[in-house]
Amino acid sequence: MEQITDHLVRYKNYNFPVNYTTAEYIDSLQSFEIRDSDIFLVTYPKSGSIWTQQIIISICELAGGLNEYPNNYEQMPWLEYLAGREDYSLRPSPRLLSSHLTPALMPAGLTDKKGKIIYVMRNPKDNIVSFYHFSSVWVDIATPKSFEQFLEDFLTGRVFASSWFDHIREWHSMTDQCNILFLTYEDMILDLKTAVTKICTFLGKNLSEAAIEEVVEKSTFKNMKKDVKANYEFMPEAHVKGNFMRKGQIGDWKNIFTTAQSERVDRLLQERLGDMSLKFIFE
Ligand code: A3P
Repeated sequence: MEQITDHLVRYKNYNFPVNYTTAEYIDSLQSFEIRDSDIFLVTYPKSGSIWTQQIIISICELAGGLNEYPNNYEQMPWLEYLAGREDYSLRPSPRLLSSHLTPALMPAGLTDKKGKIIYVMRNPKDNIVSFYHFSSVWVDIATPKSFEQFLEDFLTGRVFASSWFDHIREWHSMTDQCNILFLTYEDMILDLKTAVTKICTFLGKNLSEAAIEEVVEKSTFKNMKKDVKANYEFMPEAHVKGNFMRKGQIGDWKNIFTTAQSERVDRLLQERLGDMSLKFIFE
């Protein structure tokens, strides 16, 4: 891995935090054996990962047959990190796994349409603001000197997980090769019940109306923030000094972006992803 800043190492066009993983381990994921029952959540950081974990876990719990773990992080661990990693081949099915990786670094078996992937995307302006705030909370990545500097790093892909634009493009190009459901953070905010129902259908979990309502209740910002298994306050202070659950809203970007910065993101969005007919909700 090539060290590119004090806090980032680069491997195969992707930036990892220092000491989180190794090139050998990332390479070994290519032959990670996928089971048909595997469920992967894939996101660019700060797009609603822990929220969607809570939804998927709650659905699978209510559907039955899920092993218990102390919290959502252990129930649905990040595939690419070595800390606390167990031998996932020993996990009973259904295995739930999370990842921020790009498709090229993911297990090759996923492109045989084995397993299921849920991909959640967030509008880039709110994604940037959430990432900016979290960069001061997450000890293992650089604390930005200013929003302006963070924006520059984000737009040029010099952040953890590299370029947001590439992540979105590469995953949205996998439609024909993978079993993949695309959702947006904003769809989930605007109509959580419909999003939960879509996830149930995609996962083939036939929940009653009451069970779907229960998943929705467990996944609201207010309830999740109080849920010690789901709110990520269990993360060790040595790594995270603050909240994963910050505001949970659409449009917070307006409190920090200048008009020029907002127009720059609009322009880049058009240049980089304009051909992909993606719909972004900014307010
Ligand atoms: P904000 O920083 O804008 O508040 P990730 O889990 O990918 O790190 O994303 C974190 C973002 O998701 C944070 O956004 C967090 O508040 C938001 N989030 C987490 N749980 C949520 C929920 N139940 N409802 C809405 N947003 C939620």
